[in-house]
Amino acid sequence: MHAWLCETLSGVDALSWKELPTPEPKVGEVRIAIEAASLNFPDLLIVQGKYQFKPELPFVPGAEYAGRVDAVGEGVTRLKVGDAVAAIAGTGGFGTHAIVAAERVLPLPPGFAVRDGAAFAFTYGTSHHALMDRAQLQAGETVLVLGAAGGVGTAALQIAKAAGARVIAAASTDEKCELCRGLGADATLNYTTQNVRETLKALTGGKGPDVVYDPVGGDLAESVFRSIAWRGRYLVIGFAGGGIPALPWNLALLKGASVVGVFWGDFVKREPKASAAGLAQLASWYAQGLIKPVVDRAMPMSELKSAYERMGSRQVMGKLLLINE
Ligand SMILES: NC(=O)c1ccc[n+]([C@@H]2O[C@H](COP(=O)([O-])OP(=O)(O)OC[C@H]3O[C@@H](n4cnc5c(N)ncnc54)[C@H](OP(=O)(O)O)[C@@H]3O)[C@@H](O)[C@H]2O)c1
Repeated sequence: MHAWLCETLSGVDALSWKELPTPEPKVGEVRIAIEAASLNFPDLLIVQGKYQFKPELPFVPGAEYAGRVDAVGEGVTRLKVGDAVAAIAGTGGFGTHAIVAAERVLPLPPGFAVRDGAAFAFTYGTSHHALMDRAQLQAGETVLVLGAAGGVGTAALQIAKAAGARVIAAASTDEKCELCRGLGADATLNYTTQNVRETLKALTGGKGPDVVYDPVGGDLAESVFRSIAWRGRYLVIGFAGGGIPALPWNLALLKGASVVGVFWGDFVKREPKASAAGLAQLASWYAQGLIKPVVDRAMPMSELKSAYERMGSRQVMGKLLLINE
């Protein structure tokens, strides 16, 4: 097998494509022949030692991937060689093969494209848990999605529409706003060129958004929180912009609003039944054509470093796929 190996936490440049012995699955594990992996923002953080989960060195990055089971360890009964599967395992995806605990593997339902499976559970699972569970989003409410053209952002936009909400998609360029309109956003906000507070006021008849989905953080957060509706829910998803915002607490008091943390990885571990129910609803929405991963581009696995560069420079629209041909 071949894989991108991370041997120091000095970032993407230090990754190297290496030939490694093809491992055999142990008890409770399977080996997957990877057809596609997708890049998620945490993959960028993990190779710099900046992610909350810090694997032992050396490791193969790549949290999310899909392919076919090609070997099964002792004690695994629910998977067999040849099954089409996706896996979310924190690491291991940027290579040709990966060993993973069977419990981290999601069999793909019939009709679910393997490439979509490689770009699905991380972003849609996060956004579903955030909007439907943590925010208790109701049909007819208005959701503001920041970073709406990114990975979790496009998933949040589609999920909010599938749930019957009105969506304001916010992003940094007109091109990204255009993509969001094509995905069904009811309105858009370019936060580089437009005044955020005035635009939100105009788009919501002065009321403000009921739910804010924020994977970006930074300076934008406080002005957006000042615009939130009475009983609003502000979802803290991540800080792709780099800065962790600090909020004057009186703003939460004045709006009767909540700041709601979202940590999908721990949700999956701590509440496996609720997580499985969320993924089942997502699979059903996928089968109905209500949601589908937006693919920025599919690149050969050998071009991982260019993919990282695209994500780090804020160019990705939707998801980047890395393909083993
Ligand atoms: N809480 C959880 O459980 C959970 C789960 C998954 C991901 N996350 C977090 O969600 C965030 C987004 O992840 P993702 O995979 O969707 O990433 P992504 O596809 O790269 O999207 C991030 C978006 O953030 C915006 N952004 C602003 N400043 C940026 C900068 N300096 N560099 C890069 N992007 C910047 C970009 O939109 P504009 O250019 O339009 O501003 C970009 O589209 C990350 O912080 C990730 O760690 C959290």
